[in-house]
Amino acid sequence: MKKILVTGGTGFIGSHTTVELQQKGYEVVIVDNLSNSSEDVIDNITKITGIKPTFGKVDVADKQQLFDFLKKNQGIQSIIHFAASKAVGESVQVPLKYYRNNINGLINILEAMKEFNIPNLVFSSSCTVYGQPEKLPVTEQSPIQEALSPYGNTKQINEEIIRDFVKVNPELHAIALRYFNPVGAHPSSLIGELPLGVPANLVPYITQTAAGIRECLSVFGNDYDTPDGTPIRDYIDIIDLADAHIAAVQRMENNKQKKQLEFFNIGTGNGLSVLQLINAFEKATGVKLNYKIVGRREGDIEKIWADTKFANEELGWKAVAPIEQTMLNAWNWQKHVSGIK
Ligand code: UD1
Repeated sequence: MKKILVTGGTGFIGSHTTVELQQKGYEVVIVDNLSNSSEDVIDNITKITGIKPTFGKVDVADKQQLFDFLKKNQGIQSIIHFAASKAVGESVQVPLKYYRNNINGLINILEAMKEFNIPNLVFSSSCTVYGQPEKLPVTEQSPIQEALSPYGNTKQINEEIIRDFVKVNPELHAIALRYFNPVGAHPSSLIGELPLGVPANLVPYITQTAAGIRECLSVFGNDYDTPDGTPIRDYIDIIDLADAHIAAVQRMENNKQKKQLEFFNIGTGNGLSVLQLINAFEKATGVKLNYKIVGRREGDIEKIWADTKFANEELGWKAVAPIEQTMLNAWNWQKHVSGIK
């Protein structure tokens, strides 16, 4: 059985990826510092798959902790590195926290690959590296733009750190997945997104409003240059996103890579506006959402969606979940968390 390390494995994307990996026969070892998640997630993963992943409460930004853990857990062939701070707004307020966590974390992971002979890395990157692209959809060759936040900057810097490191370590391979907007939850309603406090992202805000936790969703602007005036994003189902990681790991395991470091856009290829997403939610769930149009949110881009040709052809991966199903899963998860029947 192939052994894989998932950092940040109790988080939103990490937990869903762990489930998919286990269901495909991988032995998963999780490290997480639980700064934005809880150990209960391990029990819920176990309930879904019937297999308890190995878990270590480890901060990957602390090299000693990481290395001590890996000394006791040898035989890992690949790492999927999710562990990072991810709140865009917070990153503007406390930039050093973001540079310290996200960059030290990656450096420690790369050093661990050398030290423990782990050849393959999947890195969580983001479409944020493209800023507001001039041409849509965005391909992997679209220009990288100056980051709008320290969070976004850590993604760009980390891509460069990986590039420089693999160049001088020919035995190492890496794939950076540039995610578009991950949404949804596991169909079992046992795992999903659990934002701390008031959600900054759209879908948790929608489901919390529908659950009565928030009074009203603010739609940030309807004066953009889009068909209905609200911004457009590429919302990717969390299970589809999880599966992209497995395709990336298999590509490296099977020596199918054309370059030591490759980049893939992970989205659906379809852009949806905020109002279209709200409609999809209402249609899927039968719940009427209380929302109002307010002013633009600073730093928001107008529109972005992925060209997924490269991922479709080279990774052999394609997003398949219909958006209504994704929104229904997100709602069922919210109902589970909120105790709504
Ligand atoms: C942001 C980050 C992205 C990060 C993602 C998930 C940028 C440019 N993008 O994406 O890197 O990976 O968060 O953490 O930094 N909206 C509302 N009302 C709300 C919340 C959102 O109308 O209460 C709208 C926004 O204006 C936007 C869309 O919903 O048009 C999606 O917003 P959000 O879920 O926050 O994701 P992004 O800003 O696209």
